[in-house]
Amino acid sequence: MESVLNETSSTERKPEKKSYTGYIITGTLAGIVFGIHLIAGPFITPALRRVCLPFVPASEEQVDNVFRMLKGRKGKFVDLGSGDGRLVREAAKKSFTAHGVEMNVWLVLYSKFKASREGLSSKATFSRTDLWKHSLQQYDNIVIFGVQSMMKELEKKIIAECKDDVRVVACRFPLPNIEPEAEIGTGVDTVWLYKIPKM
Ligand SMILES: C[S@@+](CC[C@H](N)C(=O)[O-])C[C@H]1O[C@@H](n2cnc3c(N)ncnc32)[C@H](O)[C@@H]1O
Repeated sequence: MESVLNETSSTERKPEKKSYTGYIITGTLAGIVFGIHLIAGPFITPALRRVCLPFVPASEEQVDNVFRMLKGRKGKFVDLGSGDGRLVREAAKKSFTAHGVEMNVWLVLYSKFKASREGLSSKATFSRTDLWKHSLQQYDNIVIFGVQSMMKELEKKIIAECKDDVRVVACRFPLPNIEPEAEIGTGVDTVWLYKIPKM
């Protein structure tokens, strides 16, 4: 009898312990993929736009060349595609009222953070805006560090929207049809200064 009882208990199924390991691993992996997508996405999407304009920060020499070109100028300054905000913050330090237009949300947040750390928040502002949809009417000084494929279309936009006596500084790639007033720097650090003819 005892042996029958023992047999029964030994074949009795123990309640299965539920394992959550699989869920935890899957959840963690999904979280990592989502995080990478969230952070890297804004840096990758420029490649999918009509004009591919990736984030390449201006070199120190380029920054220097831009402000050598704008020496003696004042008023409102805009950087079209402001990246990490280095040109806009430098413009604010040089007493311009400066604005950066940038599509990448992380770069906008970083630029605002840096401007606030440097006490420049009132003179250096940033918005997450498409440069093609941003009106240029209010600016006295426009800076663009673009790519060659966009310069013809941008030139048209500048001519159509800018006010009198504006100055445009193009970094690395010149405007295709307007004769520059000045050119400084060499190679990738070359910048061109333009006075825009009114139609
Ligand atoms: C070559 S980087 C120049 C960065 C900055 N101006 C500098 O000189 O350090 C171009 C920037 O334009 C931004 N960008 C690309 N397409 C844009 C668009 N349609 N509107 C606004 N910003 C854009 C990119 O995210 C990138 O930060």
